[in-house]
Amino acid sequence: MIIGIDIGSTTTKAVAFKDDGTMIRVKTRGLDALTSASGALGKITIENNIGIGEIGQINITGVGAEKINADIFGIPTKRVAEFTAIGMGARYLCSQDRIIIANIGTGTVIIEADKENISHFGGTGVGGGTIMGLSKKLLQVDNFDSIIELASKGDLKKVDLLIEDIADTEIGYLYKDVTAANFGKISDNASREDLALAIFNMVYQVIGMLAAFAARSRGLNTVIVTGNGSNNPIGQNILAGFNRMFGISFEFPDHAEYTTAIGAALDVTG
Ligand SMILES: Nc1ncnc2c1ncn2[C@@H]1O[C@H](COP(=O)(O)OP(=O)(O)OP(=O)(O)O)[C@@H](O)[C@H]1O
Ligand SMILES: [Mg+2]
Repeated sequence: MIIGIDIGSTTTKAVAFKDDGTMIRVKTRGLDALTSASGALGKITIENNIGIGEIGQINITGVGAEKINADIFGIPTKRVAEFTAIGMGARYLCSQDRIIIANIGTGTVIIEADKENISHFGGTGVGGGTIMGLSKKLLQVDNFDSIIELASKGDLKKVDLLIEDIADTEIGYLYKDVTAANFGKISDNASREDLALAIFNMVYQVIGMLAAFAARSRGLNTVIVTGNGSNNPIGQNILAGFNRMFGISFEFPDHAEYTTAIGAALDVTG
């Protein structure tokens, strides 16, 4: 059995495929690279009754993989390039032959992949870490679920300058409720809920627009969203707005937060 471990900037994920093809997976908080990797390995083996002798290879990836230069517990340990792992994982999770992937982790990376090739398209430092950092300072909250809870009750009109604030009519596909300037109209009575939603809106609009440019430049109209940033309803809803404006649809595969670890587990080369 091969165990894929993605040691990300914030969380560590481990994935393996059982003989019958079923995927098993665990997630842990990121600590230092070695503690995260050995912790995730311990968790996935113990929770699934896997003996250490059954593991033939460990494939590590993610930023933390650079810091581990030895075999883990004497098991042959290989480093897989993170971009390759994201591409392989996304190919496994979706059915298209040519894809643009927006991996929203602590930061965001955009990858393009087809059946033969995987390459780094670009990215942005705006990502989940931006939501956490701004929320900590502006809202005094650093728990992701609490930020989501606040944002779900927010009103964007109290923070963002919208098209309706600057134009009497809609301008082409710029509908009246579209943001003209993020945080451009922040009012004195903007609540924590309003600010939380505006933070999400800024982060997901930046990512959405970059990914939409990437997809368009390749003649595609879908983007596969992976990483922990894939599976929250607020972000998904903001990205859905890109379909209305640009005809680009964003897809959120099940288990997309494990994409990088899945890709690592699928690399069968020794
Ligand atoms: N339950 C959660 N715990 C921690 N972060 C969460 C949670 N849910 C969502 N997030 C968001 O996901 C981000 C981390 O995503 P992910 O685990 O994909 O990144 P990573 O792989 O650690 O980082 P990177 O790929 O950029 O090195 C956090 O910054 C946070 O905004
Ligand atoms: Mg990651």
